[in-house]
Amino acid sequence: VALKIHHKLTILFCVIFAAVTLGIFIFLYQTLREHTYHRIQDNLRKSVAFAEMYVREKAPHITAPQGWDTLADSIGSVNGLRATIIARDGTVLGDSDLTLSETRKVDNHRQRPEVDAALRTGFGMSRRYSTTIGTDMLYMARTFDSGPHKGIIRLALPLSEIGYISDELKKPLAVSLAIALIVAVLSAFLTSFFFSRRIAILSRAAKKIATGDFSRRIHLSVKDVLGDLADSINDMSAQVRSRIEEVGLEKSRLEAVLLSMVEGVLVVDPQGKVLLINAALKEFLHIEGNPAGRNTLEVIRNADVQENISETLARGPGVYSSEISLLYPEEIILLVHATKIIREEKLDGILLVFHNITELRRLEQVRKEFAANVSHELRTPVASIKGYAETLLDGALEDKENARDFVEIIYKDTDRLIRLINDILDLSQIESGRVDMNCAPLKIEPIAEKALAAFRKDFHKKNVVIKKRFPGQLPAVLANEDRIGLVFSNLIDNALKYTPSGGTITVSAAESGDKVLIEIKDTGMGIPDKEISRIFERFYRVDKARSRELGGTGLGLSIVKHIVQAHGGDIFVESRPDQGSTFGFTLPQA
Ligand SMILES: Nc1ncnc2c1ncn2[C@@H]1O[C@H](COP(=O)(O)OP(=O)(O)OP(=O)(O)O)[C@@H](O)[C@H]1O
Ligand SMILES: [Mg+2]
Repeated sequence: VALKIHHKLTILFCVIFAAVTLGIFIFLYQTLREHTYHRIQDNLRKSVAFAEMYVREKAPHITAPQGWDTLADSIGSVNGLRATIIARDGTVLGDSDLTLSETRKVDNHRQRPEVDAALRTGFGMSRRYSTTIGTDMLYMARTFDSGPHKGIIRLALPLSEIGYISDELKKPLAVSLAIALIVAVLSAFLTSFFFSRRIAILSRAAKKIATGDFSRRIHLSVKDVLGDLADSINDMSAQVRSRIEEVGLEKSRLEAVLLSMVEGVLVVDPQGKVLLINAALKEFLHIEGNPAGRNTLEVIRNADVQENISETLARGPGVYSSEISLLYPEEIILLVHATKIIREEKLDGILLVFHNITELRRLEQVRKEFAANVSHELRTPVASIKGYAETLLDGALEDKENARDFVEIIYKDTDRLIRLINDILDLSQIESGRVDMNCAPLKIEPIAEKALAAFRKDFHKKNVVIKKRFPGQLPAVLANEDRIGLVFSNLIDNALKYTPSGGTITVSAAESGDKVLIEIKDTGMGIPDKEISRIFERFYRVDKARSRELGGTGLGLSIVKHIVQAHGGDIFVESRPDQGSTFGFTLPQA
């Protein structure tokens, strides 16, 4: 069990205080004992000096041997001590604690240490255990000399008195030390409690910071080391917070940049794991969710991309470009630039930038085809003109009847050439967006009428019926009159060309949302389903031979489409072979 810090501190303090208190107690107790002992010694020394004087005075008057015992008795009773008078040969002459007959039986005292010392120096002292009384005794002896009598006076004091005195002192000493101990332990407990409480506050705050909560500041009322520490933690927390905010800001800026890029961006770590992928690339590759952290192999199932990554890894620094094409779900062509990310001379990953160049490649293709088509279309009439001109030069000019026919053919082909060149010029102008549409509010009906009027003779010749459906309250459109006229004449021309005699052509207009919808419907040959998507391409004709025979170049519908789109409208077609076609387009209301 982990003890709380303040418990640990309290226990430690208690042990130290108890040991110190015990030491003090033992020291004081010993000192007191010594002191008492010395006091007793001094007193005894004085008593024995006094007793010697007394014996010296009284001794000359002693006549009988029992006189010594009486003398000893009187000395002992005065001092309250045991007094012994000993002859120089060690014979005990009298003793205050013994009767005369008992004194006679006592051993010779010559060898007692205090007696021996007194005989040699005049004074002797000894401390030892007395078997007679059964306690520690302090003995002091002095020699006396009263002329006829010489001997030793000895006083003895039981040391049990020291024990008694120190026992009396022991109790208050112990009590006061115990009180001191309790006070010390209490204050240690309180100090460590408050100390550890403040440490707990610090540690709680530090934990909060570690979990990313920087909102709290630590307030410690006392300004000491812990106060300083609290200030440091507050500073640190503020610093970390501002750093994190900075990093977050950088990150969101980077994210905004990546998000707004039309190019796809992929960052892969050296182990091939996806670090970052932006929205554009996810859209190119049809990736759902966030694949960060997963293996590139499972995220992008494209061999070309994989090859690009491993090749970049294998090669030195630099940017490597390659073109990859994805076929599913639609064909897109991506130009990939790959480069190693090297930081502090260490490979950090690979950065791949994907440009969608599908449209670019498609336009290149269209342009190539267009050039080929144009040359082909021009060559036919030019070859025919040259052929007839040669024939004329070779003598046909003289043949008046044929010559006229030939010149007429040359004229027709030239006319066709001019129309073709005009169409191409129109188309490229409209396409380039250089032509200002000069839009103005227009009524649709008069423009349609005008276009139809131009074909009146042809309708009649082909026996085709014309129907018109214009509602009375049709809103005006915002358009360029000439261009819209061209749209009408192209669509009517087609309807007429591809509708056999006896058919019907219906021209109608209606309001549709914020636009006006115009439809030209015929009952002609129709267009096969698989061709419908291509008829708006330049030079595209369903039946080349037939169309050319009818004088078509295949540019009509692509001009129509561009004009409508330049006005902000849409064009569409509905058709069924042998049943007829409906071409519709919308124009914005004025
Ligand atoms: N109303 C229609 N009915 C059937 N097929 C059509 C109709 N309109 C267009 N098409 C088909 O679409 C092709 C492309 O038409 P587009 O108007 O671009 O060329 P064109 O009519 O052949 O030549 P141009 O209009 O340049 O004289 C035509 O060749 C024809 O095959
Ligand atoms: Mg046409």
